Amino acid sequence: MKKNIELEAKASALKAKIQEHNFNYYVKDEPTISDSQYDVLLKELESLEKQCPELITPDSPSQRVGMLSNTAFNQVKHTKPMLSLSNVFYNEELVAFDKRVKTDLGIESISYAVEPKFDGLAVALIYEQGIFTLGATRGDGFTGEDVTHNLKTIKSIPLKINTKNLPPRIEVRGEVVMFKEDFFALNNKQEELGQKVFANPRNAAAGSLRQLDSNITATRPLRFYAYSIDFDGIEDNLASQSDSIKLLNQLKIPTTNLVKEVKNVDELLAYYNDIVDKRQALPFDIDGVVYKVNSFNYQDELGFVSRAPRWAVAHKFPAEEAESQIIDIDVQVGRTGAITPVARLKPTFVSGVTVTNASLHNESELLRKDVHINDYVLIRRAGDVVPEVVSVIQSKRPKNIKTFTMPTNCPVCNTTLKKEEGEAVLRCNAGSQCPAQKKQSIMHFASRKAMDIDGLGEKIIDQLLESSLIDDVSDLYTLNLESLQNLERFGEKSAQNLVESINKSKETTLGRLIYALGIRGVGEATAKDIAKEFGTISNIKAQTVVTLEDVDDIGPTVSKFIFDYFNDLNSTNLIDKLLANGVRFKAEVKKEVGEAPEISEKVFVLTGTLPTLKREDAKEIIDQYGGKVTSTVSKKTDYILAGSDAGSKLEKAQSLGVKVITEDDLIKWTTEKK
Ligand code: IVH
Repeated sequence: MKKNIELEAKASALKAKIQEHNFNYYVKDEPTISDSQYDVLLKELESLEKQCPELITPDSPSQRVGMLSNTAFNQVKHTKPMLSLSNVFYNEELVAFDKRVKTDLGIESISYAVEPKFDGLAVALIYEQGIFTLGATRGDGFTGEDVTHNLKTIKSIPLKINTKNLPPRIEVRGEVVMFKEDFFALNNKQEELGQKVFANPRNAAAGSLRQLDSNITATRPLRFYAYSIDFDGIEDNLASQSDSIKLLNQLKIPTTNLVKEVKNVDELLAYYNDIVDKRQALPFDIDGVVYKVNSFNYQDELGFVSRAPRWAVAHKFPAEEAESQIIDIDVQVGRTGAITPVARLKPTFVSGVTVTNASLHNESELLRKDVHINDYVLIRRAGDVVPEVVSVIQSKRPKNIKTFTMPTNCPVCNTTLKKEEGEAVLRCNAGSQCPAQKKQSIMHFASRKAMDIDGLGEKIIDQLLESSLIDDVSDLYTLNLESLQNLERFGEKSAQNLVESINKSKETTLGRLIYALGIRGVGEATAKDIAKEFGTISNIKAQTVVTLEDVDDIGPTVSKFIFDYFNDLNSTNLIDKLLANGVRFKAEVKKEVGEAPEISEKVFVLTGTLPTLKREDAKEIIDQYGGKVTSTVSKKTDYILAGSDAGSKLEKAQSLGVKVITEDDLIKWTTEKK
């Protein structure tokens, strides 16, 4: 027994020592021992663990490799969604952002935390009782994939942190990146081995993180940089983004030393320009900088729109441009009938991918840019957006240029094309009568953010349409194993998988269904808003152009599109068929204002520990009943919801005469029928 205690102490000292050396090597970049000395420590620990397997704890450095995920990655639902950032490209947009922030907060000056925008992969790391227990990718922002076993191979991620004085569960968010020089070395190695080479460091990092065998990930030089930390009651411990970075540094979780605090737009721009100068020399790729309102109280007050915070913005670098030549121009018919001229290009490498097509947007753009077949052009690719032709290189114009004229009829269904008043786009108005539009709308219906039918790609949709197994999206729900197995290249397994994912998609939400219908002007966020506002299909049908405009972000044009859609017999028949074929949705019901008049439109501040509810639950209840939770007590605060150990906020509230309520009051208001 005694021996075990001794061994345990020895093992834990070794673990701590190895972690310290990892930190020195991977984070500080100042190793204090040689590689072979490091290996000796690791071997020593491994031999102890062999001798006494109880010593193998989840935070042991020996647990960084060799973990195999079974067949696929488990899904992980994020406690709080992992959001996106809005972008600005121009100085004027940045000035407008700063102005809006100050106006909304009613203040004259504000301080920002500024950081590089890593071009990697967002991940969330969960530490419980100080031990790294779960790591997940961002996924769609709500649900990601469990990649704990692969994240453990990243030596700069501590497997244990010192969380004394902090709550038991801590969530750290940041990005996994691959250094540029490591990426080139990896590609050289891959090439020598005759294996896949990666287009850019981000793809290499993504490919490495999504390996089922962590032994492979362990051979890939990945790094992690944190930009946020979160835990219950964080607002009582930290006041700002810079405080978060300080805490991360204390916990020895890697951050960059490029984070700064600045006080006005000029300083934001100076930071941006400084990073632009440093960009090439940085070891990793970045695609811009991020400006965050520093104070958490202010962040809270500003809140979110849709899926991006109103307190932060990404200032993106201009997209990379490259020279190419137009071999031909033709047109594509989009989902809503828009006819887009497309340049077929000499294959050109830009921003990490080989581009062969670029959008020319519409006829007037084509004329304005004076684009001809055979012209040399500058093309640009920004993020995941379709590449576009920026301009013609007039000085290189060849003799054999050919003029392109827009067709008068749809290239697919021959309908005469029309331009609507005030619009630049030529359209085929044949709707689902046009095979191109029909196919595009089915692709949209099946897409991830719509009905999310996994495995139903363009080729299969072509096959289903050609064989007349489907004519519209509602027919998807009549497909079965027998009908699919008769298709070429369809085995039993693939047929079964497709039937399964089609069936799975039947259970959806009203927001997704509305988005999937592909109504003009109705994107994902608007669809969700409509669903929340009206709750049912029949209620949407009952609206007028005017009442539809009551929904946030819906203006007269889109309101008319929605109205027309729900008053068109073809579309309402389609919806009826979908429902008859088993599509079901959860209503996204908005709580009626008045159900809890004490909460609706009131401003709450929470403080202290509540007897039964977690802070998050209390926030959700208040939110559901139309109230707002902020973290600063001010004259605008209506109630302070106080639990035990309430601190200075309660005092301040009392001095301002803000009404103090308890958890019991809140529960009573939401359950008592008036
Ligand atoms: S803050 C709600 N800070 O950019 C705040 N994000 O467009 C959102 N990203 O996938 C995150 N560097 O992973 C933040 N310094 C940084 C970042 C950063 C890169 C990524 C992030 C997310 C995307 C959002």
